[in-house]
Amino acid sequence: MSDEVRDIALELRRHLAWQESDGTRQILKEPGALKAPPVQAQKTAPVQAQKAAPVQMQRAESAPKVAEPGVLIPGATLDEVRTELGDCKRCKLCNGRTQIVFGSGNPRAELVFVGEGPGEEEDKQGIPFVGAAGQLLTKMIEAMKFSRDTVYICNVVKCRPPGNRNPEPEEIQSCEPFLRAQLRVIKPKVIVALGKFAAQTLLREDTTITRLRGQWRSYEGIDLMPTFHPAYLLRSPEEKKKAWMDLQEVMKRLGK
Ligand code: URA
Repeated sequence: MSDEVRDIALELRRHLAWQESDGTRQILKEPGALKAPPVQAQKTAPVQAQKAAPVQMQRAESAPKVAEPGVLIPGATLDEVRTELGDCKRCKLCNGRTQIVFGSGNPRAELVFVGEGPGEEEDKQGIPFVGAAGQLLTKMIEAMKFSRDTVYICNVVKCRPPGNRNPEPEEIQSCEPFLRAQLRVIKPKVIVALGKFAAQTLLREDTTITRLRGQWRSYEGIDLMPTFHPAYLLRSPEEKKKAWMDLQEVMKRLGK
């Protein structure tokens, strides 16, 4: 064995020991997330049909329970969730990405925006919502008297779907535990779900975004407002008024 391979093996062993031997260091225990999911031919199944089990906030036992769908320890940080995500190869989106787009903004934000998945520009820059839809989102955030630095922005899937196609159910299922972990760590007062994929994934239902938007919902005890995705608003500017009404509700709830 070369020195280099030995060093890598040693480092890997240390990392696994760090993760598994000590319950206080275990960030996520997510069988579906830690392994490549089985390939399923369900491309047309509704998002909700591929639900991932909830990430649970609890102290992991020293012997890891692999049956647990997800365990996030109290006090975990976003950096730790990012470390757990690693150089993710849990779904096929890894093949086409330039880089993972984890999220950006304030880790203690009271307001989190969740989109669908990175586009071309996001994939290049490694930052969510920096393309055309992102510029509109930035304007929406500023119209709400926030800034991109004071809120947190992330997506349901962290890698760009090729050609900006919709994320597939198994891709959402692989990434979802990390979104849930991000939200558990940040604990915002309000989540704005941008578009169908964010709303349906977080709420675990397949109601259309047209029906969901504008109605307060609860996500693990956090107020959640579904609204239209900025990319849809670019295509249908006449709907901006409704999205603005939704965002005004959010402002009210946050005392703005
Ligand atoms: N659309 C999204 O849903 N997310 C991004 O980051 C960019 C565009």
